[in-house]
Amino acid sequence: MNQDEILKTNKHYWDTYADLWSGATALPDYGVHFVTEDELHLFEAVAGKKILEICFGSGHSLKYLADRNALELWGVDISHKQLENAERYLRENGYHANLICSPMEAEIDIPKDYFDFVYSIYGIGWTTDLDGTFQKIASYLKKDGIFIFSWHHTLNYCIAWSCENRKNVYENDPLVMNKSYFDESYFRIPIDGSEILLCNRKISTYVNALAKAGFVIEQMVEQTDDATMQAKGDISTKAKKRKCFRFRFCSRQENYREKPNDQRGECIIE
Ligand SMILES: C[S@@+](CC[C@H](N)C(=O)[O-])C[C@H]1O[C@@H](n2cnc3c(N)ncnc32)[C@H](O)[C@@H]1O
Repeated sequence: MNQDEILKTNKHYWDTYADLWSGATALPDYGVHFVTEDELHLFEAVAGKKILEICFGSGHSLKYLADRNALELWGVDISHKQLENAERYLRENGYHANLICSPMEAEIDIPKDYFDFVYSIYGIGWTTDLDGTFQKIASYLKKDGIFIFSWHHTLNYCIAWSCENRKNVYENDPLVMNKSYFDESYFRIPIDGSEILLCNRKISTYVNALAKAGFVIEQMVEQTDDATMQAKGDISTKAKKRKCFRFRFCSRQENYREKPNDQRGECIIE
């Protein structure tokens, strides 16, 4: 599968179905049934800071951080529809953001050595070039900047999941491994009468890409929310799966390598 096909297919999905997901995966949530910013406090120091969101989607996370007095709001997203929605949502709430419609993998006119925070809530896994994307993010961050991101747990599409039917498969209690953890090839997921193209990356792929870009991991969180963990009795298949291997992971990294201009940054995953 080539990069153009992947980007075209995923952009088509988001341009068509953006409205279905408005605010669904946005701060204070890092993901569905994951611990929230209210517990993690990763953005506590955002007041007065310049922030950039990779895959800003509906704009709800930018608004959340603007409410906490972030100074400058920037964002990149591949979807024109998301850009329209986010601009409108932020305007209705009295905020302005510099929003750019582009794949995150592209050379984009974003200032370098400029941001205090770069973050992505459920966005990074969409990249077709993880190494290149992390390197770009490191270049946007200024010295001591922070990178925070969240994504599916790397076992999500390997265990108790049917790719063909786009649903969790959890029968008679055992969690069946349906797909090799080492297989990072792209696959089609039918959704809403359309489709998206994704791949499943290993934890080491994320860690090594971060290291290559000069980041050091400060924190990684793998934690399903308390309500799901404590749920008993007749709970959904999804909830059973989340109770078993905790659904998301989240980490925080610091860019330690000396860059030519002595730039440093930090970073976080879900
Ligand atoms: C699951 S949504 C999450 C967005 C955001 N957290 C929200 O709550 O709306 C994923 C977003 O990634 C964007 N996206 C997908 N592939 C992309 C790419 N290659 N470059 C930039 N944005 C991309 C989509 O348009 C979509 O807005």
